[in-house]
This record gives sequence, C-alpha cells and structure tokens, in this order.
Amino acid sequence: MPAGKKVILVTGASSGFGRLTAQTLARSGHRVVAGMRATQTRNAAAAHELDELGSIENLTLSAVELDVQSQSSADEAIAVILERHGRLDVVVHNAGHMVLGPAEAFTPEQLAAVYDINVVGTQRVNRAALPTLRGQGAGLLVWVGSSSTRGGHPPFLAPYFAAKAAMDALAESYAAELIRFGIGTTIVVPGAFTSGTNHFAHAGHPQDTTTEAAYDGLYGEIRALIDRRLPALVPPDANVQSVADEIARVVDLPDDSRPFRTHIDPSRDGSEVVSVVADRIRAEFYRRLGVEGLLPSNAAL
Ligand SMILES: NC(=O)c1ccc[n+]([C@@H]2O[C@H](COP(=O)([O-])OP(=O)(O)OC[C@H]3O[C@@H](n4cnc5c(N)ncnc54)[C@H](OP(=O)(O)O)[C@@H]3O)[C@@H](O)[C@H]2O)c1
Repeated sequence: MPAGKKVILVTGASSGFGRLTAQTLARSGHRVVAGMRATQTRNAAAAHELDELGSIENLTLSAVELDVQSQSSADEAIAVILERHGRLDVVVHNAGHMVLGPAEAFTPEQLAAVYDINVVGTQRVNRAALPTLRGQGAGLLVWVGSSSTRGGHPPFLAPYFAAKAAMDALAESYAAELIRFGIGTTIVVPGAFTSGTNHFAHAGHPQDTTTEAAYDGLYGEIRALIDRRLPALVPPDANVQSVADEIARVVDLPDDSRPFRTHIDPSRDGSEVVSVVADRIRAEFYRRLGVEGLLPSNAAL
C-alpha cells in the first residue's frame, strides 16, 4: 500500500454521504470497505455497483455486510476486513436514520430503535474495531454528527436529534479515552442537506398515528411550513459531495493537524459558533482537572 494510504471502513455506505465518502476515499488511493446491511437483498445492487466501480476505475473498493444493529454482524465485518487487507486504520461512523413527527407520538420502542441505530450502532462497531486499532497503536475515528446538536434546529425531529446529540457526547469522551492509544478523532458535522441523500426520503414516522393526528389541529400548518421552509434555507448550490470531500480531506491530513470538529453547513444554522464556545469550555475544564493531555491537539483551540 502506498505510504499514507489507509484501510478504511465506512458504515452505512449503501447511499448518501456514506456511499460518496467510500467512492471519494477510494479515488484518493485508500483501500475502502463500504459497510452496508442487506447486501444480498435490498442493497445487493448498491454493493454490486461499488464492486463494479472498483473494477472499472481500478480502485480498492469493496462492500461488506454490516448491520450496525447487530454485534455479530459488526464482528464479522471487521474479521472480513482484516482478512482482505490485514489491517484497519480508519472507521467512518456514518450509518444513521432519521424520523419525523411529534415526539409524543413515537412509541418508547421506536425511540429506542432510533437510538439503537444512531448511537448503539457506533458502540458495536467500536467494540469490534478498536482492539485492532489499539493493537496497532494508531488509527482514526471519524464520526458523522449533526449540526442540530448545537445549531438552530426545527421541532418534530426529536428522537433523531436526541440520538445525534448522544452520539456526539459519546464521540467526545471516546476522543479523550483513545488519544493515549494513538487513535485520533474528528467529528464531521453536516448541516441540513434536504436532498441528495435518502435521509429525508427514508425518514421514519410515528407508530401512534392517533396521537400524531391530535397535533394536527394546532400544529398541522406549522409542520407544513417547516417542511417548506427547511429546504428553502439550504442554498441551491449545497452539494452533498462536499461532506464526502471534507471527510477525505480530514483523513489525508497528518495525524497532528486534523480538526477535532469540522462543519459543512450550507444553511449556516449557527452550530459552528456554538461548537467553538463549547469546545473551549471543555478544554478549560480539562485544564482545571489537569488532564489537558487528553485533548486532541486541535480541540484545545
Ligand atoms: N442529510 C442530512 O441532512 C444530514 C445532516 C446531518 C447529518 N446527517 C447524517 O449523515 C449520515 C448519513 O446520512 P445521509 O444523509 O447520507 O442519509 P442516507 O442516504 O439515508 O444514508 C444513511 C445510511 O445509513 C444506513 N443505515 C441505516 N441503518 C443502518 C443499519 N442498521 N446498519 C447499517 N447501515 C444502516 C442506510 O442504509 P440502508 O440503505 O440499508 O437503509 C444508509 O446507507 C447519517 O448519520 C445522518 O444522521 C445527515
């Protein structure tokens, strides 16, 4: 493998940012494994297309079965990667799922399922991958977060926003706990991209339709307004490829100069400003604790 080129797993790579990221990283010369679930059924075409692209463009790009909601699937995916490439350098936590609707109308089980995909899924992949990265004494976790965690965001997406905030909190603590193993962290924070991925098109809805309907009288027009205005806040030149390009840029940076957090937010919801303040406060708190050495170099600001 050429110097500086890495073995990279991208989760949720059947569509959207994940698929573009897998392609972009492979075109940069990395060996990329595109994790996706249902590779034999629903995502068989997506897996085949990536394999074909790899052959046509002479890229080291392949798909692997990976359902982040199953620990055995995550374990098997990492075993396959190690068999194919002998190592693993970077994990891009990209798999995610959104839901739209009044918070109350989601059953507790639905809320738990959204959390399971967006948060617990990263834990399963980490538990499968980190022993290898720790053993190598080197590696990088890239977490695809959400500007909703810190920026202005609309109501009626509560379970999803809560899960992304939880994922972000998990990523921050992991960053400090992994730095001494030589494993870096970057949280890539996209703003809303209402088209160009399956994020909005495949969004889930509340099972409790009676409760959802109870909100229609007072909130029906507001919800319709948000549905119209949110895409209108996204500038027409917003390009989903910019998220993939940013992930590829971060991966190619030297270990000591990667950003801890990087925002790609065409609609400018303010999350970048809040992140600067929040990351400074955290850095100051680490200093007061006397553990500033656990901060990624660029998180200290
Ligand atoms: N688009 C936005 O506005 C936006 C903004 C901020 C952050 N994000 C984040 O960006 C990431 C990618 O989203 P996207 O916009 O590219 O939407 P997308 O096209 O829907 O991509 C989501 C991917 O996650 C996969 N996935 C869902 N559940 C999975 C599971 N259990 N195991 C493995 N893969 C699973 C989906 O696979 P299937 O095809 O099998 O469902 C799909 O490939 C997500 O983490 C999302 O939260 C998106």
